[in-house]
This record gives sequence, C-alpha cells and structure tokens, in this order.
Amino acid sequence: MTERDRDFRAEARPGARETEGALSRIRLRDRDAELRSAEAAVDKLCRDFAAGGTEIGELLTFSGRPGIGKTSLLHEVRRIAKLREGATVLFARGGERQFNEPYHVLRQLLQPVLGAMEPDEFSQVMGTWEEVVGPAMGLKQPRKGARRLDPQGVRDGLDFVLTQLAPRRAPLVMIVDDLHWADLESLGWLAQFAVRARELPVLLVFAYRDDSADWQQETQEHQRAVAGLATRRHELSRLSLVAVTDMIRAELGDKAEDAFCYEFWNVVNGNPFEVVALLDQVRDQELEPVEENSQQLRELAVDATGMTLKSWLDRLGAATLRFAWAAAMLGTDIRPDLATRISAQTAEGARESVKELRKQRVLTATPNGNLEFVHPLIASSIYNTMPEATRTGMHGVAAAEIENAGLGLLAASRHLVETFAGEGDDRTVRKLRRAASEHLLIGAPEAAQRCLHRALAEPPDDQDRAEVLYELGCSALLTDPAATVNQLRLALDPEEGPLRPSMRIDATFRLSEVLAHSGELRQAAVVCQEEAEKTTGDPEGRLRLEAASFMWHAYRKSEEDGPARSARLGALCESLTGREAADRAVLALRAWDLTLRGEPSAEVLRHADDVLDNGRLPKGLGWTDNTWGFELPATLGLSYTYSDRIAQAERLFSDAIVQFEVAGWSGAHRGFAYFLMGLARFRRGLLAEAEDFLRRALRLSERISARLPLAWDAVGVLIDTLIARGRSQEAWELAIDFGFHPPYHPTAMVLPDAASLYGKLLLAVGRPAGAAAALTEAGAQLDVRGWHNTVWAPWAGHLAIALAQDEPERARAYARRSVVDAERFGTASAIGTALRLHAQIEDGQQAVELLERAVAHLGQSPAGYEHAVALVDLGAALRRVGRLEDAQEYLYQGIELAQHCAADGLVDRARRELANYGLRPNRLGDARETLSQPEWDIAELAVRGVPPQRIADHLALPLSLVNRRLAAVYRKAGSGPDGLAAALGLPPAQRDGSDPLDGPGGPGGPDSLGEGFSLGR
Ligand SMILES: Nc1ncnc2c1ncn2[C@@H]1O[C@H](COP(=O)(O)OP(=O)(O)O)[C@@H](O)[C@H]1O
Ligand SMILES: [Mg+2]
Repeated sequence: MTERDRDFRAEARPGARETEGALSRIRLRDRDAELRSAEAAVDKLCRDFAAGGTEIGELLTFSGRPGIGKTSLLHEVRRIAKLREGATVLFARGGERQFNEPYHVLRQLLQPVLGAMEPDEFSQVMGTWEEVVGPAMGLKQPRKGARRLDPQGVRDGLDFVLTQLAPRRAPLVMIVDDLHWADLESLGWLAQFAVRARELPVLLVFAYRDDSADWQQETQEHQRAVAGLATRRHELSRLSLVAVTDMIRAELGDKAEDAFCYEFWNVVNGNPFEVVALLDQVRDQELEPVEENSQQLRELAVDATGMTLKSWLDRLGAATLRFAWAAAMLGTDIRPDLATRISAQTAEGARESVKELRKQRVLTATPNGNLEFVHPLIASSIYNTMPEATRTGMHGVAAAEIENAGLGLLAASRHLVETFAGEGDDRTVRKLRRAASEHLLIGAPEAAQRCLHRALAEPPDDQDRAEVLYELGCSALLTDPAATVNQLRLALDPEEGPLRPSMRIDATFRLSEVLAHSGELRQAAVVCQEEAEKTTGDPEGRLRLEAASFMWHAYRKSEEDGPARSARLGALCESLTGREAADRAVLALRAWDLTLRGEPSAEVLRHADDVLDNGRLPKGLGWTDNTWGFELPATLGLSYTYSDRIAQAERLFSDAIVQFEVAGWSGAHRGFAYFLMGLARFRRGLLAEAEDFLRRALRLSERISARLPLAWDAVGVLIDTLIARGRSQEAWELAIDFGFHPPYHPTAMVLPDAASLYGKLLLAVGRPAGAAAALTEAGAQLDVRGWHNTVWAPWAGHLAIALAQDEPERARAYARRSVVDAERFGTASAIGTALRLHAQIEDGQQAVELLERAVAHLGQSPAGYEHAVALVDLGAALRRVGRLEDAQEYLYQGIELAQHCAADGLVDRARRELANYGLRPNRLGDARETLSQPEWDIAELAVRGVPPQRIADHLALPLSLVNRRLAAVYRKAGSGPDGLAAALGLPPAQRDGSDPLDGPGGPGGPDSLGEGFSLGR
C-alpha cells in the first residue's frame, strides 16, 4: 500500500459517517414481538458463535409504510447488538437522493471497518481483490492505467472480502435502513449476499418500505428476493388505540379524554410518525385534549407529504427554506458547510436557519456534527416543493461546491446530471466525461452512462460528439452488448460528426468484438475489412483491423473463401518486417490458421514462439489489453494446446485467470479463461479437473445470460469430457438440454468442431447411422474450408467407425485418410489417436500393429487419456490374438493411467476385459503403486506393529502428520491396521512383545529394514 492509499483510507475512517444517536431512545409501543425477535436473533448469533458455530447467519427484516417505526426498531437492534461483547455492528442507510450514487450504501457499511484496519490485515482481507474492491469501496485509488472494472468483479470481490471479514469480526451484525433507496450497485450485491450470509457468522438486518410500486423494477425484484430469504420477517402494523392513547397521555397528561384520543388515533391511522407530528401541533396550538376539540384534530393534521411550497414558506421563511432545500439536495449525513454554500447564506444566516429548522423539527444534529432530516418524508416533501429552475440551478451549484470542497467528481456527478441541459457548455461536457471514466474505474457503468447521456444532451461541440458516443459505447462493453453496438455505430456514422482517426480504429475494433460475441461473426469481419480499406496513413491501425478481420473469419463456422483467405494471411505474414504488437498478432492468427488447416505443427509452433517473449505474452498483447482483446492470446494458447505444447498453453491460461481476477473482469472473461483451462486439462487427460473448470465456465456464463457462445463452447468440451469419463448418457442429456445438435450455434468460437463432436457423441450412445450422416456433413464443410486438423475435428476417424459395419471399404479409406492428415500435422497425439481409431475397424494382427504404433506415439505425447484408451485397446486386441500375458500387462497399465485420468468408464472396460477372460482385474498389490514414498516409510513401520507415536519419534515427524499419512495408507490399501500387511503384500508382523524397532535391522532409518521389506519400487 502506498502513502497515498493510506491517506486516502484515513479519510474514509469511521466517525466521518457515524450518525448513531440521531434518535434518542424512545419507548417503542406495540413492538414487543419485533423486539423479542431481534433480541433472540442477536442472542442466537452470539451464542452459536461462542459455541464454535460458523454457518449461523440469519436475515431479519422489518417492512412497512413510512413512519410506521422501522428506523426506530433498527436503532433498538443496534443498541442491543452493541451491548454484546465482541460483536461488530455495521450500519448504513439508503437515501432517496443518493439512489444514483454507486456503492453509496456499501461504502457506509464497510468503510468504517475496512478503513480502520492495519495494512497487514487489510491486505489479507482483500486478498487478490484489493485493486477491485478497494476503488469501488472508496478505500483506494484505482490502479494507474486502469480503464474499467467489471461490476460482476466487484460483486465477486465483495463476496471474498466478506467471507474473510465475517469470521474476523464475528459475530457480525450488518444493518441497512431504507433498503428501498439503496443504490442498485449495493442492493444487487446485498440481495445476492443474503443467500450466502447463512454460511457465515452474520446477522443481516434490513428495513424497507413496502408501500410503493414506484420503486424501479430492479429494486422491487431485489426487495422481493430479500423478503423471500428472511429467516425472521416482520411486517409492521399500525399502533393500537391503547398505545396511541398512552402516547398522548404521556405527552399531554391524563386529562386527555378518551373520545379525543379515539379521534386522534383515527386521524393518524395508528401511524407513530403522525402521532408524534400531530402531538407537536396540539402542543404548539395549545389545544385542550377534550372531546369538543376532537373536530379540530383533522385540520391540524397536515400530512407532511401534502405540504405545499406555500405552507413551507409560511412556516420557515424564504432564507430558511432555501437552506432546507440545499440540505434536501444533499440527502443524508448533510455537511452544514456545504449546505450553507449551496444556499448562498452567510455563516450567521446559516446558523439561524439551522436553529429554526431544528426548532421546527425538520432537521436534527448527528454526533459527528452533521445534519439529518428528522424523517425522510420531510426531506422528500421539501425537495419536491422546489421550483424546477431553482432545483436544476441549485444542483449546478451543489456540483461546483462539492468539487471545491475536494470531494471529487464522483460525488459531484450525481448533481451534474440533474443540471439543466441545453447550454452547450464545453466545461460541463468535459466534467461529465471525466466523471464517466471515474465511474468505470469503480465498476459502475450505469452511472457512467448517465453522465455520458447527460453530456450528449448538453450538447457537446460538433467535433466532440462522436467521441462522446464512442465513450458511451465503450462504457457498456462489459454489460450491455446491444446498446454498445448501437452507440458505436452512431459514433462511426459520419453524420454524427468526425471521430479522430485513432478512435475510429478502436471504435471499429470494439464494434467488431461485440458483434462477434453476439453471434455476428461475418458482420464483425466485414466491419473491420471495410474500415481497414478506408484507413490510410496509419499502417499499424490498418494492420490491426485487417488482422481482426482474419480473426473473425477464422472463428466462422462456414466460409466461402477459406483457402484463399488463408493464403492471403500467409502472404501478409511473409511481408511482416517488425516485431510490434500488430505484427505478432498477425503471427498468432497465422499459427491458429495453420493449426486448423492441419499444416505441420512445427510451422505452427515456429509462428507461435515468435509471438511470445521468453514464453510470456509480449507487451500489447496481454489478456487484459484493450487494443487486441483477449481473443488473440486465446488463439495463441489454443494453437499450443493442439500442438501438444499443453504446458505452455496452461501457463498462458492460468495467467488469464489471475489477470482477469485482478482486473475484476469476472464475467464472460473469467468464464472464458476457465473454459480454455478446461480444454487444456481435457487434452492432457486430467478429466476430473477438466470437468470442474468447464462447469465453472458454464456457471459463470449462465449467470450473465442464458446461452452465450461461451456456454456453448463449454458444453461442447464438457460433452467430450463426459464421454471420456464413461458418462455418455449424461453427455447426451446435456447435449439435448443445450440444443447441441445441427444446426449448430453460429458463434461458438473455438470449440472442437461441433459437427465432429456431435457425430462422436452419437457413436458413443450407439447411433452409428445418425453419426455417419453428421460426420459426413462435417467433413464436407471442413474440406471446403481446407481445415484438416484431425485433433480439432476428428470426424474422419469416427466416420470410419460409424461406417465399419455397412461399408468397410469406405470406412477404411476414411481411417487411412485420417492417419495421413494426422501425420501431416505431425504431433504425437494426433498420429497416435488417428492410428487408434483406425485400429478400431481392423481385426487381428493388423489391429495389434496399429495399436502398438498408436501406443508408441501416444507415449510421447501429453494426451494422457488418449494414451490410456490406446493401452486398453491394445490389451484387448492382444487378448483377441491370444497373447494373454502381454494383454494383461497393457490392460494393467491402461487401468492405472485411466485411473489417473479419472476415466471411470475406461477403467471399467479394462477390468471387464480382464475378468471375462479369467485374468485378475486387479494387479497384485495394486495399492502399493499408489502409495507415495513417505507413506511407504510409515506403512512399513505400521505393519511391523510400531505405534504412531513411536513412528513419529523414529522419523522425526509430528504425530499429526504421521496420523494423516497413516489414514491415507489405510484408504489406499483398502484395509485397516489388521489386514495392512496382506494388502500391501508384506510379511506380517511378529508380535512377540519385543520392540519392533529393535528388530533385525536395528534402529535406524527405514532403509535399515530387513530384506523382507524390499519393495521393488
Ligand atoms: N412503536 C413506536 N412507539 C412509539 N413511537 C414510535 C414507534 N415507532 C416509531 N415511533 C416514532 O415515530 C416516528 C417515525 O418512526 P420511524 O422509525 O422513523 O419510522 P419509519 O422508519 O418506519 O419511517 C419516530 O419519531 C419515532 O419516534
Ligand atoms: Mg425510516
């Protein structure tokens, strides 16, 4: 953390916002049940936590009309919670005027506790999310050079932070008042967190109005979600006649007559806020509380919301009302100095105003020296009486004063967007644009867009207009593709005014990106090509667009002009002279193009290696780089994946995961990185891990919206993975569920060819006829494009299998062709797999020979699962030609590797193969292979009857470690202490009472054990 950050955080420390005590304690009537419930919730939290519980979270809600007593109850909850030793109480409230201030509520809630942490603890709590959550919560300046945060990243980061924070500050009570006015950034997260909070030592307490259908739809939805999650839910009802009568008599004395009280209760409809207000009136007017005066109560009871400009003016006077307006504009936690300046009063005048407003019970002071409205109803009433021109004008003054006070554009912008548009003021436009970019930096694109829309309405100068449109388009990049396309198209439209050439290139590229990701790959390619042709005088920009055009074409399912385009890309590659990012980008695309075409992988790798700098992505082509987008490094990683350099690909992909996380690009980006990692793991045969990554990618994708191209990609590889794991039926159901069949999704980007995969799936579920049709079609389409990579699209090998029964000669032709294509590409995994598939349609000695070659090749490749299949196939083929001993050996090897790959179906198949022919399905002492050396060391001693404590002493290890390793030994050996020797194929212990460690080998290390323990490992 830098000095600057520390200062920055110091400003956000507690105290600045603490408004507790604004209400002194009052006696709450008719709320016994609610108070008991609150007390019970707090008690339970503290008790369960003290008892070691962690998953003890609850959600307590209070809802009801304005004035019904929600805030008062929250104050009681706060008081109750603060009395508990060790409990941490956090509080925040939504504000009607702050509804559009991103993270307004969460900042109030979290700044006091996070801001007060020592740097060490702060870093621990933030983890890798410091650059994301820090800026969003106003605890840290955004990173230098950062451009935008993904709001989903902020939400994920907050999840992490709270998971860290809750146990450290447990039991934790988080209270939010007026949730209906919480800014949507905060509310969205809170609603989501309410689900997870149950797993933490956290009590959430929310209060909200349930009386209005006016709230924005999103607010209503979140509110409903929250209500549904409440473990204790209280809808507050009006006060009883008895309670109101009590309140009246407490104020006016016992002389208040029953009939008067009854009428009073009727007039206020049991609403405590109105009780208090009307009592004030009665006292001010010195109305005798007797039956005859009941009639006058109705006249006295002026509903605060019904107050007009005139009635406020009469009550407060012009100057004081102006001060009240300024305060209303600021909302909650009002700084008097700001209100003074906004209302253009002298210090003296302001003091008078405050005095009057407190006397009139409009404002009240908070312990930190700020002001607060006595009730939000009054604030609304005052704000709403402002004449329009006054309001817009005053918002302008407020924006300026807030900036002057050093509170920043972010805080000022809420007022700027309310100012009167139509002045064409250049300075306003500039400020709004700056405010927009600051909002992007804290992950608040909606607020950024509000600023930019307002800037457009100003309107900007003609030469700036297209730029503002461009910024508007970019602001929605991560959240709203449709809006982005429209705005970027507008920005590029010459009728909207000129756009700087460099921006034109960027805008075109962005537009093409969004088009591509929403299924318009052809459009994306065309847009780039056309703009490239128009671009003169900027060779690098032109190259960028040309390369992008190639890239989008390369991702298209079908293309008329494939081979010719590939030739042009090759020529472009040859003509490159520099090593700039753009040149390397073209090389990366060429590597991918060569991969798809199945050209020699040595060529692929030569190009790919030229892109990298010492095995790392070069400057300008990083995962989070804005110029090229993440598709380009993805392409490069894919080339490595298919060329058997999977470790290199995985290094790139794990960088992607980390970098997207750090940048807070938590949505589709991170999902895409998981997908890539899943694919790499799949290719290596680490199937369980692959499945895990792919499912994570799928979840992230579905969270954004249903059926993104990403989901399709992930589902595709997941289907492949499930087939490999022996769960073909599950794969089939997944395919049906996702509509994974012809016509295929138009925008799957990098998926192993969908049609080939579908054919493979049909084969796996026993439908060779359907498979043959699908694979024939796949082959025809790919041939047109000149794409012959047998790993990326293994259609020919599978088609051979599908045809084997009915058309053996055609089948053989396809199988041979597949081997030839694979040999041209030249990787060990491609050749090995093609040979293995070929062997499937051959018999006898011929199959054995093909499989022996397949095993030899695959043994040189990182494709573990493919290797395992070939081993098992070879074992089976050897068994068929009667070479049982060799068969057994390969089957054992196959089982072992298949187990390592978590390819359960393959393990079963190999076991059946062994068992059916009278061979033992488990190698003797199977467990011995799986024990690690340290586990062996301990197992050997345990078998000799050495107790764990002695083993620990003997090997100088902690007892807990010894016990952990012993547990692993028992699990792997499939036996407890008694049968361990037998399970491991060791001689049983001699239990003659002597110390086993003084045995024949004498004390010493495990090496000194007798000969009988030679394990041949
Ligand atoms: N149960 C109660 N008994 C007596 N007075 C109450 C009660 N609930 C609220 N009040 C008073 O009514 C006024 C409005 O209550 P408040 O809690 O601000 O309502 P809300 O938050 O629901 O709008 C406050 O002045 C408070 O003192
Ligand atoms: Mg309230």
